[in-house]
Order: sequence, then C-alpha cells, then structure tokens
Amino acid sequence: MAIENGRESLLGATLCNLGDGLILRTAGTLADVERIAALGAQVHSDDQVAAYARWKLADGHPAIRLSDALFVEDLRTGKVVSSLCSFPQTWCYEGIRLSVREIALVGTDPGYRKRGLIRAQMHRVHHEMGAAGCLLGCIEGIPGFHRQFGYEFAVPLGSCARLKLAQLPADEKDSSGSMTVRPMDLERDLATVMLLYRQSELEIQAERSEALWRYLEEAPAGVPDRQETWVIESRARVIAYFRLRQNMWGPWLELAEMCVESSLGLDDRTVAYEAMLRSARRIAVERNYQGLCFALDPRHELLKLVTEMHAEPER
Ligand SMILES: CC(C)(COP(=O)(O)OP(=O)(O)OC[C@H]1O[C@@H](n2cnc3c(N)ncnc32)[C@H](O)[C@@H]1OP(=O)(O)O)[C@@H](O)C(=O)NCCC(=O)NCCS
Repeated sequence: MAIENGRESLLGATLCNLGDGLILRTAGTLADVERIAALGAQVHSDDQVAAYARWKLADGHPAIRLSDALFVEDLRTGKVVSSLCSFPQTWCYEGIRLSVREIALVGTDPGYRKRGLIRAQMHRVHHEMGAAGCLLGCIEGIPGFHRQFGYEFAVPLGSCARLKLAQLPADEKDSSGSMTVRPMDLERDLATVMLLYRQSELEIQAERSEALWRYLEEAPAGVPDRQETWVIESRARVIAYFRLRQNMWGPWLELAEMCVESSLGLDDRTVAYEAMLRSARRIAVERNYQGLCFALDPRHELLKLVTEMHAEPER
C-alpha cells in the first residue's frame, strides 16, 4: 500500500495475461494516469481528453480510485496500448437509489485494434460490477458500438433545442428588475444550491455529496466537462441556479442544468427563466458564442418557454 496524491493505492495490480506479451492491469500510480491520459489524447486526437483523464483519476474525486482505470500494457515496449475506465456514481430514479458505473476513456492504440482488448476490459468491468451488486453501466460513445456488450440507448443526452443570439432577450429589455444573477459563491451558496438540486424533479438525478459538488465546481480550466454555476437572487435570497458549459460540438453556450425553487409561482419561475436567458445572452456575446443550447431533461418546464420562442429542435 502507498499514498499517491493523498490517497491510498495498491500501486496497481496485474489482473491477467492476455497473451502475445500483453497484460491487463489496474492503474496504481500517477505515472499510470499519465500514460492513460497520453493514450486518450492520442486515440481521440484531443488534448482535452488527457486533461479529463487527469482530473477524473488524479484530482481528488471523492469516489473514484486509481484502480477504476484498467489498461493493457505491451510488456515488450512498456507502452499502454488500450484503456477503459469505470467511474462509480449513484443515481436516483423514481426515488430508487441505483449504483451505476460510467464507462469512459475507452480507446485502443491503432496498432492494437480488433484484437479484443476492449472486449477483455469490458468483460472485467462487468464481472466486477456483478460482484459488487452494481446493476447499471452507462456510456456515451460511438453510436451502436456498445450494443455488442449489452448496452441499449436509454437516456437522451446533449442539447435538445437551441436559440440564436438574436432570439435571446437582451439586457436593455429587462422588465423583471426584481431578480439578479451572479456567479455562485461556493461557501455562501452551496447549501442552498444543493437543496434546490435535491428538490428538482429530474427523472434521473445523480447523487451529489458536498464533496462531489466542490470537486465539480473546482474543475480546472481545460477539462471539457467544466461547468460554471450561477445563482439567481430575489430579495437577497437565492431562488434558483443554473449551470453553463461550452457545447461539445460547436461554438454554443450550453445550459446543462437549471433548478428553481419549487414553491415559486409560475410567474416568478418565468421571471427567473428570463433572467437566466438575459444573462446567458450577455455571456454568449462576451465569449463569441452563436447562442444558447439546452441540454436538459426533456420534461424540464423551461423547454416549453423556449419552444414558444421558436427554438430550433436538436437530437
Ligand atoms: C472503438 C475502439 C475503442 C475499439 O477498440 P478495440 O480494442 O479494437 O476493440 P475490440 O478489439 O475489443 O473489439 C470489440 C469488438 O468490437 C468490434 N469493433 C472494433 N472496432 C469497431 C468499430 N470502430 N465499430 C464497430 N465495431 C468495432 C470488433 O470487431 C470486436 O467484435 P468481435 O469481438 O465480435 O470481433 C477503438 O477502435 C478506438 O480506440 N477508437 C478510437 C477511440 C474511440 O472512438 N473511443 C470511443 C469508444 S466508445
């Protein structure tokens, strides 16, 4: 046992010999993380994938361990030639808590493809999930590729509608006056934001401890999933929050989450949505985005409003 980055690690373990000089291992050191990060950047031709790997595996995630990363090493060269991670999550669906593993950072060096390396790692993860009573695995990836491993399309992801800059309300037309928008102050606002999230009526809600919220809020620049959280105040009280990020596919600002206090009446909720739209427009203009897109639960009330604003549907 050793301490790596403030946490215990078993310095990795060799799980099995795959033949032909290849071994299947779990990560155990920050050097392993670097090698997995480098492979991810190479196979996806994107340095942000390396930043994502470092953030997830070596930056203090409260639930993820180094051993959640599997990789295949070629003993002849010492090179990491394939990897697959499975990150633990807890979801809440219709009030039922579900232990879930998110499969991520899936990739094989082009010289080693179609030799069953991803199949071997999938098999290993599914075996471990079964032993731990984990019922669900989820993955965002090549459409259809994971059907062969028993995965089916289940949850719509990404943006479902978008509004161009010209369709978003401008600051000068602000008629609400009563609500203000500002960046979330982690120390001051986190408890309220956590409560608003827990009370929201999302069909599937990921369980977020305070430690997980802090980890997400403190994601370093360069991590593709990085979101920034804004709060909406009415009479000096936080009554809503929303989270923004850059859309993965183009120069669009993306609304990834918005929760409004459930006891507010429809008029006040609408004013809160309009306050968010005005702020999002200002941010989109400042950062040269083409507009705002909405990656929300299909049942989210805000989608009715943006449909009335003639948003272009996506998905
Ligand atoms: C997709 C990828 C991860 C497959 O890795 P791999 O090590 O070649 O996969 P395996 O050899 O274990 O293949 C498993 C099965 O998928 C099939 N397969 C491999 N690549 C495939 C592809 N691009 N599309 C469809 N099926 C594919 C194989 O034929 C094999 O099926 P079989 O066992 O019935 O013959 C690899 O091509 C890659 O790194 N691509 C670029 C990164 C990427 O897109 N990652 C996201 C994956 S969601």
